[in-house]
Amino acid sequence: MKPAKYLNFVVCKLPKEMKLAISGKGGVGKTTLASVLAHLFARDGYRVTAIDCDAAMNLPSALGIKTKIKPLSELKDLIEERVVMPLGTYRLNPKVDDVFELYSAYNEDGVRVLVLGTIEKGGEGCFCPENAFLRAILRHAIFREKDVLILDMEAGVEHLGRGTARGVDLLIAVVEPGSRAIETLERIKKLSEDIGIEKLAVVVNKFIDNEMSRSVISRIKYPILGIIPYSECFIKADIENIPPYKICDLKPFIDIKNALEKVVYGKNRGNTA
Ligand SMILES: Nc1ncnc2c1ncn2[C@@H]1O[C@H](COP(=O)(O)OP(=O)(O)OP(=O)(O)O)[C@@H](O)[C@H]1O
Ligand SMILES: [Mg+2]
Repeated sequence: MKPAKYLNFVVCKLPKEMKLAISGKGGVGKTTLASVLAHLFARDGYRVTAIDCDAAMNLPSALGIKTKIKPLSELKDLIEERVVMPLGTYRLNPKVDDVFELYSAYNEDGVRVLVLGTIEKGGEGCFCPENAFLRAILRHAIFREKDVLILDMEAGVEHLGRGTARGVDLLIAVVEPGSRAIETLERIKKLSEDIGIEKLAVVVNKFIDNEMSRSVISRIKYPILGIIPYSECFIKADIENIPPYKICDLKPFIDIKNALEKVVYGKNRGNTA
């Protein structure tokens, strides 16, 4: 399988930094992918910020962080104070730099991790304070070349809100190659378009090489960044609370990272094998 041939579609005006959002149905491997990519980018000298946008909030532990990070959504008073102006209007550029110091943690690779927690659903027209705040956080996280932002999302993407999602360069949809993968992709595509994310690429996870999987993959019409085989190793990592990149085969993820670099920079910079 040579997924790189599908990549032409995404090679257009991405900026030097990478803002990636990872979405997909429950349990498909979003957090696994987010944590391993964060590790690989950090190992290659990128400044990585990973934001857990899932209510389950397990990205920090997948990145080996043992301390509890306070979810940003719990900072209601602070958000109000920073975002809401007199007469109920919102400040477009709220101060957030101190939030990074106070409410993030770094793992041993130097990946900076923030936890969003549960925020109100965004969607069309929503300009709730949390979204204005998150938008400022996204802007602040990324401002120079070799900055990478990874959002580990919930199954949907709608809670990002239109304005916030505009800052996302590429939505990575993770799918298992089962019967509903194609429908899921259509739904994710629709949702992402609704909130203004134009580019979608796919990672196929838990791949078992059989006819059905191959047939599903052949029907995917979006660019495929890579295919990760099914492996008990990830389950072991999860059960034992060990970051998956410490014990599992990284090769498929390195290929995905290289594909992403190719998408963004137009050449293969990755050399992490
Ligand atoms: N390639 C794989 N092979 C086998 N198991 C995998 C693979 N990738 C992930 N898993 C396992 O699948 C389970 C779900 O993975 P993960 O938590 O990354 O998914 P998720 O999409 O983030 O889930 P949620 O929707 O609950 O946030 C975990 O037990 C994980 O170890
Ligand atoms: Mg998850």
